[in-house]
Order: sequence, then structure tokens, then C-alpha cells
Amino acid sequence: MISYGKQSIDKSDIDSVVNILKGEFITQGSAVENFENDLNNYFGSKYACVVSNGTAALHLTGLALGWKKDDIVITSPVTFLATANCIIYNGATPDFADIDPLTYTINPNLVEEKIRILRSKGKRVKAVIGVDYAGHPCDWKALREIADKYDLQLVNDNCHAMGATYLNNKKYAVKYADVVTQSYHPVKHITTGEGGAVLTNNSGVDEKVRSLRTHGMTKAKDQLENNEGPWYYEMNELGYNYRITDFQCALGSSQLKKLDQFVHKRHQIAKKYDDSFSKNDMLKTTETNSSVEHANHLYPLQINFEKLQLSKSLFFDKMKQMGINLQVHYIPVPLQPFYQKNYGFKPGDYPVAEDFYAREVSLPIYPDLSNDDQEKVIKNLIHFINT
Ligand SMILES: Cc1ncc(COP(=O)(O)O)c(C=O)c1O
Repeated sequence: MISYGKQSIDKSDIDSVVNILKGEFITQGSAVENFENDLNNYFGSKYACVVSNGTAALHLTGLALGWKKDDIVITSPVTFLATANCIIYNGATPDFADIDPLTYTINPNLVEEKIRILRSKGKRVKAVIGVDYAGHPCDWKALREIADKYDLQLVNDNCHAMGATYLNNKKYAVKYADVVTQSYHPVKHITTGEGGAVLTNNSGVDEKVRSLRTHGMTKAKDQLENNEGPWYYEMNELGYNYRITDFQCALGSSQLKKLDQFVHKRHQIAKKYDDSFSKNDMLKTTETNSSVEHANHLYPLQINFEKLQLSKSLFFDKMKQMGINLQVHYIPVPLQPFYQKNYGFKPGDYPVAEDFYAREVSLPIYPDLSNDDQEKVIKNLIHFINT
């Protein structure tokens, strides 16, 4: 079965993991710090704290930024559940601003409009989370200006865009956002199995995230209220066990060395899809803003099912019968029953996101996708939309 995304693991990855498994520490050893240093070098952050997954990274970000009841945090409706759920984990209230129809990332004009409306009702907007959807960086310059103008915190859910470039800068994420979160799930650009990180230039945020990753406990002598001996530790705040193992981090460091290569391969695959579909007026390929080099985590193709009088569900079934497992990214989060029931969102609230959802199909894209498999995807897709 050809899936929409998949890890690429080679001998050097396996060797680096085995090396740790044969050593003294398989968790809480030096591979964790080494991976954090490697992330700082690649992404230009001063601090990186690796955690058990991208959802934990988002949860700890909200805690470190002090989100609480009566705070509103605005994000994109076109994202994975975790981006919005982390707002609720922190007791704050999620809200959304619709996407730009060309880049599929949050529309800064609508963010500002939403802030004005909420503020005019006396509500407190605390933060904005931009999502670099599919690997296309948001309009971070505009989002930064809005954050500064309204004194808001700015977070980049960067899970899709590792290796992307914005305004000629691969280190753009921490340049514009106060906090950046990543995920290293196997479908992402680099993997640690499960894993994630919080990147920031803010030492206070990093300290908080680091403490909350391990139960809020500390052994640092200068932070202890008492010191009863060498075994002694104190807990000053309620934290979690969101740690990640050393063998996962060894895999992460090994994978990170190949990130540019992985992105290059994804570009080649995306170009081939673009060339095959761009002249078909039933299909709309991804557009890339000129300020951006896409990281092509996903290849979202829009198919005009309505005009074709083709059911999306039937199309999925037919492709699956041919051994091709497509996906959809994403069902707009405010349309989830939980969000409708608890926050009053309803169909029609985010028309661009809803229209995009109706047409969007994520095609297989990952570095190890073979030419033959990609040809098979293209051939079958064209066949099914023509019959
Ligand atoms: C945009 C986005 N945010 C957050 C997450 C959550 O990451 P994880 O699955 O590592 O918890 C994902 C993962 O799918 C994602 O795509």
C-alpha cells in the first residue's frame, strides 16, 4: 500500500540508535542534549527542549506562556487537532481566523479583524498560533506586526515546515515567533518515532518548559528552598513526564543531518505532481508565495469533485483498491463535534477552510516514494477523475 507519508530510515540511523542501546544511558543521557544542540544549530534558536511528542510541545508552550482562563488564543482552522486542543489543556479558549485561499495558512487580515471584534467585546486575546500548513510558512512578517501592535504572544506550530525557507532564511521560525513547536512523528520531515521540541530565544520560556517536562522538579542547588543532602530534589510547580529517550534523540540527530536532502527529494516529487496536474482545470495544485521555499510536507491537491460529479469518498475507495492510501488534511477543527458543542462554532463560520476541505486530497509524498509508485498515483488519479 502506498501511503501519504512515511519515514526514511537508513543504516546510519540504525547504527546511531544501536550505539545508544549498547551504551550506559538509554534515557536522560547525553544524546538528548546533543539533539537539542543540533536543533539549535539548524534552526537558529538559542534554546531547544526536546519532549515526547509535538502535542506535549504545544501543551508546555501554553503553560510556559501562562495561558489561563479568560484568555483567547487564535489559530488556523486548517490544522491538526493538537494545535487547538493545547489551548484548552491550558484552560484558555480557542478561536480561529480563516485561511488564505492561496497559501492555506492563517490569513493575517482576518486575524486582525478577529482581534478587533473580540477586543471590542471586552475579551482578552493572549496569543496567536500560526501553522506552517503543508510546509508553506505563514506570512510571519504580518503576524509579527499584529502581535507587536496588540501586545500578543506569537507561536509557530512548525510541525510541517522543517527545512522550509522564508524571506531567504531557513532560521525564520524563531526569528518571527516567540515560541516554535515541532513534531518528529514518522510522517514528518525527520523522525524520532514519537517526539517533539520547543524552540525559543527566550530563556524564561525554556527554563519553564524544561522544568515542566520532568514533573516540575529540580535538583539545582540555587533553586532549592531546603537542601537535605545529595539525594534531595524539590517540586515547585506541577509538571509532567514528557521526556524523550536517548535512542530517539540519537535517531533525531542522525535524521537532522539529512533534512536538506529529504526536502530536496520532496521538492522533486512535488514538481512532478505540479507538472502532471497544473493544466487540468478540474485540479488545483499548491501555490507557493515568492517569499517562500516550500518544505512539501504534504501535497494538498484540490479536486473539483462538485463539477466532476464525483464523490470524494468513492474516489478514495477506488484509489485504495489500487493500493493507494490517500488522506485529507484537515477537517476544519471548529467543525469537530467537540468544538461545535462546547464553543458554538458552526458550518459556515470559516468558508475558505470549509471549501478547501471539500476539495482537498493529500497525495503520497515522502523521500523514499519511488518513481514507479508516483507514476501509479498520477495515472490512477487522472483515470478516476476522467471516468
Ligand atoms: C500541525 C501539527 N501540529 C501538531 C501535531 C502534533 O504532533 P504529535 O503527533 O507529535 O503529537 C501535528 C502532528 O500530526 C501536526 O501536524
